[in-house]
Amino acid sequence: MKEDRRLPHKRDGFQVLKTKTAYVIFIVLTYAFGYFSAYYSRQPLQQQQPPSPAAVRDVKTTKPQVCSIDNFRVTTRCGNLVPPESIRQTVIDRIFNGTSPYTDFPPPHAEKFLRPKRIKGWGSYGAVFENIIRRVKPKTIVEIGSFLGASAIHMANLTRRLGLEETQILCVDDFRGWPGFRDRFKDMALVNGDVLLMYQFMQNVVNSNFSGSILPVPFSTGSALEKLCEWGVTADLVEIDAGHDFNSAWADINRSVRILRPGGVIFGHDYFTAADNRGVRRAVNLFAEINRLKVKTDGQHWVIDSVK
Ligand SMILES: C[S@@+](CC[C@H](N)C(=O)[O-])C[C@H]1O[C@@H](n2cnc3c(N)ncnc32)[C@H](O)[C@@H]1O
Repeated sequence: MKEDRRLPHKRDGFQVLKTKTAYVIFIVLTYAFGYFSAYYSRQPLQQQQPPSPAAVRDVKTTKPQVCSIDNFRVTTRCGNLVPPESIRQTVIDRIFNGTSPYTDFPPPHAEKFLRPKRIKGWGSYGAVFENIIRRVKPKTIVEIGSFLGASAIHMANLTRRLGLEETQILCVDDFRGWPGFRDRFKDMALVNGDVLLMYQFMQNVVNSNFSGSILPVPFSTGSALEKLCEWGVTADLVEIDAGHDFNSAWADINRSVRILRPGGVIFGHDYFTAADNRGVRRAVNLFAEINRLKVKTDGQHWVIDSVK
């Protein structure tokens, strides 16, 4: 009986010893597992090096080769081509509800604020216009940024002089100028916050006798170019002279090439000015580099030929 009573004690001690050993082994294994898994998961991080300046430069020079316009997010498919002779009516139908904006122009409420002719442009009469129009003989010209119409009217004069009677010039401009532009154009009216720029542009066109060949497209360059493309309106020549910061010039160039006919020419002003941190030049050069096109210059203008 005594022995019987002590036996369980011996077994208890052995059990306790076994349990303690197992416990210690468990703790050691857990610790070891934790240590090694942490060590191995840290390895790849330790191997990651910050990119060296040389690597960043590599990306810059090699990336454009695998990049194309298609890589940029394009939301609209361009519509079926409208023949050049139908472009004017298409724009009048789509934008002006079928009636030319010159009909009954000027409206009585604006008439007293308009001057018979009030023109101011920048590089609007450069030789580049004649050089390109002679070469391309465009049926359709789209101008991005027209202001008071100086360059548009100059191009209309050239096409008339060169016997290109059918040429139409579409002038894309929101006709708001830019914030503060009236500091330099104090003589221009401000009617309830409206600078009447489109009416003065139209007045200049009428005064120059070109209402049959110049049409305003009074919207932001982005939305107008998207719509022209969607409607199937294309151009032989696109001249870009709107926003001169990099983002504006970049967007205008990339949207404009979508409405350019194969073999058409795209060109623009202010390639050499330092304004807006040389935004125009940086955008033009990047576009040409990505698409392996050549930039030529003509006076203050940049020219890119035969954009496919
Ligand atoms: C430098 S002026 C154009 C001058 C004109 N090409 C000339 O030589 O007679 C720039 C014009 O671009 C227009 N503009 C600038 N950014 C624009 C935008 N995002 N959408 C529409 N028009 C814009 C302004 O309203 C302004 O009339």
